[in-house]
Amino acid sequence: MTLSWLQPAQRINSLPPYVFARLDELKARAREQGLDLIDLGMGNPDGPTPAPVVEAAQRAIADTATHGYPPFEGTASFRTAITDWYSRRYGVQLDPSSEALPLLGSKEGITHLAMAFINPGDLVLVPTPAYPAHFRGPVIAGGDIYHLHLTAENQWLIDFDAIPPEVAKRAKALFFNYPSNPTAATAPREFFEAAVEFAHRYQVLLVHDLCYAELAFDGYQPTSLLEIPGGKEVGVEFHTLSKTYNMAGWRVGFVVGNSQVIQGLRTLKTNLDYGIFAALQRAAETALSLPDHYLHEVQERYSTRRDFLIKEFASLGWTVDRPQATMYLWVPCPLDSTSTDFALSVLQETGVVLTPGNAFGPGGEGYVRVSLIADCDRLGEAMDRIRKAGFRFDAAVTAPV
Ligand SMILES: Cc1ncc(COP(=O)(O)O)c(C=O)c1O
Repeated sequence: MTLSWLQPAQRINSLPPYVFARLDELKARAREQGLDLIDLGMGNPDGPTPAPVVEAAQRAIADTATHGYPPFEGTASFRTAITDWYSRRYGVQLDPSSEALPLLGSKEGITHLAMAFINPGDLVLVPTPAYPAHFRGPVIAGGDIYHLHLTAENQWLIDFDAIPPEVAKRAKALFFNYPSNPTAATAPREFFEAAVEFAHRYQVLLVHDLCYAELAFDGYQPTSLLEIPGGKEVGVEFHTLSKTYNMAGWRVGFVVGNSQVIQGLRTLKTNLDYGIFAALQRAAETALSLPDHYLHEVQERYSTRRDFLIKEFASLGWTVDRPQATMYLWVPCPLDSTSTDFALSVLQETGVVLTPGNAFGPGGEGYVRVSLIADCDRLGEAMDRIRKAGFRFDAAVTAPV
C-alpha cells in the first residue's frame, strides 16, 4: 500500500538518482533475457580474501571474547595495527587512541564525516567526476556543493589556482581522492603540498580518500596527505580493506588524521552504530600485517589486466591512458554518444557492463569506467563481443566539460 501522505526527508529527496541502482535494474533485466553478463561495472574485487585473514577470522569467531558489543572506538589492538601500518608505509606517527578510528567500510565513514561537520548551507568543494559518497555525503548533510571540474588536459587534477577566492573563503571542506576513482589519475607530492597550502590559507578541512593506497603499479607509490608537513593539522585520510585485501563484503575501513575531526566523527558514530564485529577487527589486523609479496601479487594481477585491456582497446582504434594505480580504466566514449547511451548500448548488445561516467557527476560525461575485476580470458571475451557488435572507437574524443 502506498502511503500518499508520507514523504521522505528532504535530505533523501535532494539526492541525485543513484546510477548504480539504475544499472542494477538493467542488469537484472538483461539476465532475465538470458544474457551472460560480464560485469565490469562495479569496483568489487573478484579475488578471494587472503587465506591468513580468513583463518584469523575463523579463530577469532571461535573465541567467545569477541561475541559481545565491540568498543565504540574500535579495539585498541586494531587501532594500533592501523597506526603501525601508517608508520611503516609513510613514516607518519599517529596516536592510536585519538588519531585513528575503524569504520564499517570507508563509505560509511565518509558520509558520516559530512554529517558530523557540514551544516545546511555550508559550502563543500568536490571535484567532478568523483566517487559518489564524496558529493552524496555532503548533500545528505544539507551542504551546497561547489563542483571543481576536472579535465583530461589537467591530468584530472584539481586546479587550486582556478578556485575563485570568494568561493575558497566560503568553503568549509574539500573532499578528494588520488589515486582516483573513477579517473584512475594519480597526483604528485607537489599537488598535495598545494592542497595543504590551500587548506591553511582558506581554513578548509581536507578530506582525502586514499582507498587505492596499495593498488599502485610500476614502482609508483601514492602519497599520503599526512606525509605533507601541516597535512594532519587540516585534514583526515580514509582507507579501506575492501580493495587491497579483497574484503569488500567484510566492511572494514578506517580514518586517520586530525584528532578533533576524528573525535567529531566518533561522537556521531557512537550514536549510530557499535562498530565492527571484534572478530573481524582481529582479521583486519592480520591483513594489515601481511607480507609484501601478497601486495605484489595483487598489484601484478591488476597491472597485467590493465596492460591486456589497453592493448585490446588499441586494436579497436581506442586510445586509453595507462594508469599507475587503481583497478579502473577511464575510457572516452565514441563521438556523439553520451556516457549513459554508450554504456546502455554496450550492455544491450554485448552483455558487458561498464559504468557510465555521469554516475560520478557531470564531469564524468563523455567517459565510461571499466573495472579490472575479471581475469584476462574473461576480459578478452568482453572485448571480442564488443568487437563483433561493431563498436569502434576511432572517433573517441574527450567530451567538453
Ligand atoms: C574512492 C573510494 N572510496 C571509498 C570506497 C568505498 O569503500 P568501502 O568498501 O571501504 O566502503 C570506494 C569503493 O569503490 C572508492 O572507490
